[in-house]
Amino acid sequence: MFTRRSLLSTTAGGITLATLGSQAFAALPKLKQKDTYKVGFAQTESNNPWRLAQTASMRDEAAKRGWQLVYTDAAGSAAKQVADVRSMIAQRVDVILLAPREEKPLIPAVMEAKRAGIPLFLIDRNVDASLAKPGEDYVAFIGSDFVKEGQQAAEVLTKAMGGNAKIIELQGTVGSSPANDRMKGFADYIKDHSGMQIIASQSGDFARDKGRQVFETLYQAHPDATALYSHNDEMTMGAIAAMEAAGKVPGKDLIIASIDGTKDAAQAVMDGKVLVVVECNPNFGPKAFESVEKYGRGEEIPTWVVNVDRVFTKDNIAAYMPEAY
Ligand code: AHR
Repeated sequence: MFTRRSLLSTTAGGITLATLGSQAFAALPKLKQKDTYKVGFAQTESNNPWRLAQTASMRDEAAKRGWQLVYTDAAGSAAKQVADVRSMIAQRVDVILLAPREEKPLIPAVMEAKRAGIPLFLIDRNVDASLAKPGEDYVAFIGSDFVKEGQQAAEVLTKAMGGNAKIIELQGTVGSSPANDRMKGFADYIKDHSGMQIIASQSGDFARDKGRQVFETLYQAHPDATALYSHNDEMTMGAIAAMEAAGKVPGKDLIIASIDGTKDAAQAVMDGKVLVVVECNPNFGPKAFESVEKYGRGEEIPTWVVNVDRVFTKDNIAAYMPEAY
């Protein structure tokens, strides 16, 4: 049980529950305690293994509990995702779980759910904290520390490169919290290592083919690049295809740091093509539904339910392979 004034952190079932202090929880819509809930899950897109694993985890947990899941897929459009949340409000779901595509355009959806008296949790991605606040406008953010993911990728890469690299960065979706924070975490770490230089940085929209195209263009312009930092595994796999098409050897000509933990990327670590994959765990179902259940019981939820991620290299990737998605 987490109380309003507590400041504590525990780890249970792979998640850290951390309270950030006194919150204005009184302003939030309440959730009646019931045996079963009608839960809206607003997914952002379904174009990669991470998203498919996340959706499967949500569906599995709903089925396990016998709760009704109202599922929408915004197909990569923030405008559609706002409309999806409006439709959930019109259907009077009990609670909304929103994976916001971008930080700013989903603010109206968050505020409309609050005005409609429907509690909303952000899962996996965050919104702009200056425009909507956990504990006040929505219940909580459940997800990874993306800044830390960027720092961890930078740390492993910096050590492997002896502090010297010319880096191409493939960013995720422009305006999304993982892209913003992974960029920041990486930059924060390398600023103390003057030999680590980002020579080109552009969005590949978290997508494999876009990642391939963007990497191809950037590498043609910067053939002196020695490393790739990619904000997700799908773009990494696209970039590897581009490297190989150009006659280059991933893992030798370019040293690669990536984020997620897909099966393809895990295999690429096994094969020596990728140096490091920092995990971003997509299995949100148990954590998200447990948080809803607790909120229905009147327990205060920490404003950030933190996913704890692992770091995979050739030293520990074999043990992870059976879990990879
Ligand atoms: O929000 C998490 C990111 O979104 C994952 O890293 C990426 O693969 C997904 O599309």
